[in-house]
Amino acid sequence: MYEDLQNKVAVITGGSKGIGTAIAERFGKEHMKVVINYHSDAAGADAAVKTVEAAGGQAYAVQADISDEASAKRLVDAAVEHFGDLDVWVNNAGMENQHPTAELSLADWQRVINVNLTGVFLGTKAALDYFLSHDKQGNIINMSSVHEQIPWPTFAHYAASKGGVKLFTETVAMEYAAKKIRVNAIGPGAINTPINAQKFADPEQLKSTTAMVPMQRIGKPEEVGAAAAWLASNESSYVTGITLFVDGGMTLYPAFQGGKG
Ligand code: BGC
Repeated sequence: MYEDLQNKVAVITGGSKGIGTAIAERFGKEHMKVVINYHSDAAGADAAVKTVEAAGGQAYAVQADISDEASAKRLVDAAVEHFGDLDVWVNNAGMENQHPTAELSLADWQRVINVNLTGVFLGTKAALDYFLSHDKQGNIINMSSVHEQIPWPTFAHYAASKGGVKLFTETVAMEYAAKKIRVNAIGPGAINTPINAQKFADPEQLKSTTAMVPMQRIGKPEEVGAAAAWLASNESSYVTGITLFVDGGMTLYPAFQGGKG
């Protein structure tokens, strides 16, 4: 537990499932107040609200499409109206789908870029606007991926969006460091979430993914939640502009394990 997080107000985009809900639950354990944004899964968002409350926090769900500028502002307003302030903004919402690049439609490209990269920009902009106008030492956490670093054939749009999140995070961190606004990213590897449910239900795919993880297991959503709590807290007070990989070592070139190469 991080005492300084108690009663802090957070917005989490894409909070109705997976890593978003795990971060919300962890923030609940820290006795924070959480606005849970969702796009279409109202039942998931309701369940996430109950999870946060059961963990010891407060929560409120807001429907909004985060690739739309007005939505990000609505989320700031919801935080202020319901919980009186805004301290932490988590740009978590993301999506992926698989296409060989030669067959990737412009529509699929744009959908992934809009949610994973433009959504991060719009959320960051809305949070910065609040932090700067209220002279707050706010905290922004962007959900990246191991694929900000590892190329991922047939997921070019996804990898491009996460590479974008990396340099966006670094640039904004530098731009607002003197204002004491910290901006960091988290780079999850293979985590047991709905985005991967189909893949990991297939024993062959589960085996081949696990083989790419030096720790030889799939990660748990709460392990990403723990990273988010640390980045949000004062315990990471001298940390800005990083990507904190939570990947069991996936970014360590596991193909070279045992001295191969
Ligand atoms: C993706 C997962 C994938 C993992 C490792 C993540 O960014 O969302 O689907 O399993 O990277 O490749």
